[in-house]
Amino acid sequence: MKRIGVLTSGGDSPGMNAAIRAVARCAIDKGMEVYGIQRGYEGLLDGEIRQLDRSSVGDILHRGGTMLKTARSERFKTPEGIARAAEMLRTFGIEGLVVIGGDGSMRGGVELARKGITVMCLPGTIDNDLQYTDFTIGFDTAVNTVLDAISKLRDTSSAHDRTTVVEVMGRHCGDIALYAGLAGGAEAILVPEVPSDVNEICRHIIEGRNRGKLHSIIIKAEGAGISSEELTRTIEQKTGKETRLVVLSYLQRGGSPTLRDRNLATLTAARAVDLLWEDSSSKAVGEISGEIVATDLEEALNLPREFDREMYDLISVLSK
Ligand code: F6P
Repeated sequence: MKRIGVLTSGGDSPGMNAAIRAVARCAIDKGMEVYGIQRGYEGLLDGEIRQLDRSSVGDILHRGGTMLKTARSERFKTPEGIARAAEMLRTFGIEGLVVIGGDGSMRGGVELARKGITVMCLPGTIDNDLQYTDFTIGFDTAVNTVLDAISKLRDTSSAHDRTTVVEVMGRHCGDIALYAGLAGGAEAILVPEVPSDVNEICRHIIEGRNRGKLHSIIIKAEGAGISSEELTRTIEQKTGKETRLVVLSYLQRGGSPTLRDRNLATLTAARAVDLLWEDSSSKAVGEISGEIVATDLEEALNLPREFDREMYDLISVLSK
């Protein structure tokens, strides 16, 4: 394979630039031509495609966001859009495509693969909702951002003897709340994967206060059943303690990628280029138990996401 493309799609995540850099430099090292596609599938449809050289990807390894920009594309979700995108790739002579994004981007990759394009998907999302990899690119950085916020919030919660509800991202996945809750010592977490019991949470807060706890941190994944505002009001009303809500929102999408995210991005990108060079079939490339693993793309898309219930249960044991 002599000419490949790379794009970033869906919500941006810290580490996407590291992946783009590795795709470009590993491919150029093999003598391949690399084309950067701006704004994900939307830019592909509009032919926003330009060749990259080694210097194109200089000074981006440590930067959050994506030098190729990203977008969500309704146009691309139609049969006509998919056909046009495949045609645009062929017009540029691009035989293989690296898609850096989440599950929606993967679905688009599968559609292009069905049109004869060889597609390698990398897990670029903070949500950690892809089963073909233990962790997604950006998840570690996002959780560390949440941990930093929790640390700061502890100070003011203690000063005012308050409960603080922290809403985190993740869409339908609770892993940001789960990992930040365990590492941050939250009193309780609410996640989409486990039905919430607000009475139990309030009881937990009151019992903690009776044992001398100065404050409580509750982490709520945005996809968990109850609204964050309602949860905050209910906790304040039932516990009699001032309760404040902090929605971290897009803070979790930015920042310089951590070591883990930089190297996960780099190693999976390097493997993707190797696979394209070897004319492999379309794959999703992730890391499982410390090994870089390539999974058949359609198979990867259909793997059911597993939630770590053991970690979830440990949080309430540790906060008693
Ligand atoms: O998928 C990443 C993510 O940050 C989710 O956690 C969040 O719900 C969503 O993107 C927000 O989407 P947008 O950036 O389009 O508002």
